[in-house]
Order: sequence, then structure tokens, then C-alpha cells
Amino acid sequence: MNVTPEFEPMTESAVRFADEVRAGLCRSGQKTLPSKYLYDPLGSALFDAITLLPEYGLTRAEERILRRHASEIVGHLPRPTLVSELGSGNGRKTRWILSALCVREPLSYYPIEISRAALASCESELSDIEAVSIVGVEREYLDGLREVASLRPDGSHLVVLFLGSTIGNFDRGADARFLMGVRSFLQPGDSLLLGTDLMKPLDRMLTAYDDPLGVTAAFNLNLLARINRELNADFDPRAFEHVARFNDAAGSIEMHIRSKRRQVIHVMGDAYSVAFAEGETIWTESCHKYSQQSITDLAALAGFRKQAQWVDSEWPFAETLLVAS
Ligand SMILES: C[S@@+](CC[C@H](N)C(=O)[O-])C[C@H]1O[C@@H](n2cnc3c(N)ncnc32)[C@H](O)[C@@H]1O
Repeated sequence: MNVTPEFEPMTESAVRFADEVRAGLCRSGQKTLPSKYLYDPLGSALFDAITLLPEYGLTRAEERILRRHASEIVGHLPRPTLVSELGSGNGRKTRWILSALCVREPLSYYPIEISRAALASCESELSDIEAVSIVGVEREYLDGLREVASLRPDGSHLVVLFLGSTIGNFDRGADARFLMGVRSFLQPGDSLLLGTDLMKPLDRMLTAYDDPLGVTAAFNLNLLARINRELNADFDPRAFEHVARFNDAAGSIEMHIRSKRRQVIHVMGDAYSVAFAEGETIWTESCHKYSQQSITDLAALAGFRKQAQWVDSEWPFAETLLVAS
């Protein structure tokens, strides 16, 4: 009897992951990997741990702003309201906005996430808020927003949340193009609540991305372990190290993974190999730091005007309410 081996076809997102990893590792010059791939189930759990670190003040700063000013923020939003969030993560901070909004009306909340694990924790974190129905959207940001915008009832006001300074993960120029993409799914008068980390002393910014416990290092190096797990590669994460550095010209913290020695890595069995020189890095994430003026300028470029802004005094961080022009 002939037995035909069964092959599981790769999903569309697995094919995209494989293609983007190959493109990033095999390009000439600086090797790169897209930061969105840091968030597999382990990566999402490690990100949650990062937000608890004393050195990473960003999440607590944004939570303080949302907790203190939720009623004021919500007071600016016309009703009826439909809320969507780009890259919600576990949604913990969003509770303040949803709780303030649902006092005045029942509403639907659409978190958009690339990470199924983050989406599941967001749904369970916020499930106890009565009068909010949560509809998780497992998609990339703009694909998800297109879908949500197509569902909006006539006459409703769409509020998009983009918290955690995730906008800073885009390169300069790409952040404006991304916000233009967001704007293209909105109607004039719709709102965007944008969280952005502000420039602060260098040592504070660096330790936020290179903590003494090594949690951020584990978050970064997990990307190699993910490539091993999902793309049958043979990275030895111990042969690489986490690096966080400030790029003065760009105004961004950059996270890299640095090879400790010369080595060759095989991916997808022997489908291709990648050579590393000692000290060579893979650039995995940028975290841009803004000024208050640069946020207004960025928003204007993308077709938004500033309606209001709240800034945390302990850890400079701005929450800006923008309106689609
Ligand atoms: C820096 S975390 C911020 C999470 C949360 N908003 C917060 O403020 O703590 C970025 C989140 O965006 C998600 N994400 C990253 N790239 C994405 C993409 N292209 N499309 C959808 N979600 C994405 C990640 O899974 C992660 O949960």
C-alpha cells in the first residue's frame, strides 16, 4: 500500500512571515526584521512583563493620563460612538475610556491585533464592562480598520485609539503615511486618540529598553526563537545579544540583535543560509520619541487637527485627541 505523506499547507500569514524574514535577513547592508513579528504568544506575554518594569514608565504614564482624564476625553467625543483600537495589546489601559463612554451609551469596541494571544487577553480583560460589546479583529492595522469602517452604522462617530506610542515603531515618514492610511478610512469629524512617548534624558530612555533583569532582551531574542519554531531555523539565541541604542539623527531608540561571533544560520532546513560577521546586527524595532510640536505637525500632514492634549509630568508622555479634518 502506498502511503502519501500529508503536508499541512502554510497559512497566508505564515507565508508572509517566511517571505518577510527571508527578505530582511538576506538584504544587503543592515539586516532587519519587522517589529510586528515580536508578538507571538511568548512575545506578547514578555511585552506585558515589560510594562510592569520600574524602568519602563511609558505604560504607567499613559494609564495615569487615561485614568485622570477619561471623562474629559470622552466629553470631546460626539455620540453615538463606535470605538476601534489599533494594536490593543491586553487592553488594560483602554478600560478607562470604555468605562467612561459606556456610562452615556452602550457601545461596540473593535480591538485590531496581529497577535491572537494579545487579542484573547484583551477580550478577557475587558469582558466585565457592561454595555460594551467586544468584537476582536485578528488582522494587521489597516486591513482591520477597513473592515471596522465598513461596519459602522450611518450617523455614528468612529473613535480610533492608537496607544502605547506604537506609532513610534514606524520609521520617520512611514509614520505620516500610516496615519494617512488611518485617515482614509475615517470621515471628517471622526477622532483619533494618539499616545506618544516624549523625548527625555538619554539614560531614562535607554534603560527603558535595556532593563537590568533582561526582560526586554528576552522579548527581542524571542524573535530568533520564533523563527526557529515556525520556520525551522537553527539560531542559537545564546550566540546573540540584545542591544538598545539611541539614534540621535532619527530621535529614536533602536533595538538590535547582535551576533557575538561569526556564524552561519540555516532557515527552512537548508532552503537558505544567512552569514553573520562578529558584531553584525539585525535591526528589530525603532521607538521614536516625539516633541509636542512634532505630534501636531505629524497629525496635520496626515489630515488631522489637534483638539486637545494631556501630558504626564512624571514620565513625559502625551495623549493627543485628533480630529479628522
Ligand atoms: C507596543 S505594543 C502596545 C500594546 C498596547 N496598545 C499598549 O499600549 O500597551 C503593540 C501592539 O500592536 C500589535 N501589533 C504590532 N504590529 C501590528 C500590526 N501590523 N497590525 C496589528 N497589530 C499589530 C502587537 O501585537 C502589540 O500587541
